[in-house]
Amino acid sequence: MESFVLILVISLFAEIRCKMEPIVLVHGGAGDIPDSRVSLKITGVKKAASLGYKVLKNGGSVVEAVEEAVKSMEDDEAFNAGYGSVLNLDGDVEMDASIMLGSNLLSGGVTVVKDIAHPISLARLVMEKTPHFLLAGAGANRFAKEQGVPSVPPGSLVSKYAKEALEHFMKYGDNGTEMSGVGEVGTVGAVAIDSKGRLAAATSTGGITGKMAGRSSDTCIIGSGTYADDNVGAVSTTGHGESIARFCLAHAIIYEMRNGSSASEATAKALKEMKGRLPNTAGAITISKSGELGIDFTSRRMAWAYQVKDEMHFGIEHGQHTKEKV
Ligand code: GLY
Repeated sequence: MESFVLILVISLFAEIRCKMEPIVLVHGGAGDIPDSRVSLKITGVKKAASLGYKVLKNGGSVVEAVEEAVKSMEDDEAFNAGYGSVLNLDGDVEMDASIMLGSNLLSGGVTVVKDIAHPISLARLVMEKTPHFLLAGAGANRFAKEQGVPSVPPGSLVSKYAKEALEHFMKYGDNGTEMSGVGEVGTVGAVAIDSKGRLAAATSTGGITGKMAGRSSDTCIIGSGTYADDNVGAVSTTGHGESIARFCLAHAIIYEMRNGSSASEATAKALKEMKGRLPNTAGAITISKSGELGIDFTSRRMAWAYQVKDEMHFGIEHGQHTKEKV
């Protein structure tokens, strides 16, 4: 009888200890965002954070929450994902995405996928319906069709802004503007934790303007663009894909947390180290298993947002952390 009471007390204590505030933290891409795009990005990340938070508050899973948040930014022309994706040298949109669940380390991704409104949902289907972690190109599109994912008409994901960015790129090469290869920005991502400490991460991108047809990015690679492990934390990254992939940025942040750094220390430390080793910039959002947040970037700007209760937190500049009632 006594041991039964003791077990009951221990499990109640564990339940109370594990109850944490659900959070969906999102980013809308690190890079050289011009002033003219700042308010569009902030509006978009706040909307995505609010939608993801609602999913958790209404009893949805962390995977549903990050998917919903990313879908909202894939629909938004302000971001380089889904509609509004940047263009390759042929003038086409080719997209990458990945998603990961921290409880069992399951993940799914797609790369060089075309004419799909929500690559993140296709990545989730790869995770849930196939034995694989990544499907590419025509095979990924065939899988989408088999799963009943609607395709959109060729060219319909191409925005006016992306066309102008490619024209500019063709004329001047890597010029550091928002959507050129150097200033790539607008990759989107989300990390979430629920009240029981379960974690997930998701990331989606159109890549970099003027990329070669068939180029894959860090965004679809587990450990570079996305990582989630309930024993450590969840990360989504953004920035120059080749550099992030070579550095395995998402997993470098996980590694720092595993070795005792807080989410914010780990994020800052890994980004700083990457900058010291590789020429291009990046950003990342992180949630630790205890619900601490890390938000950092070595680029000029990165839009981010999360909601806690009735308060929206957001920023885009270094050092900015604005709060407003929702
Ligand atoms: N990080 C996105 C890309 O380089 O494609």
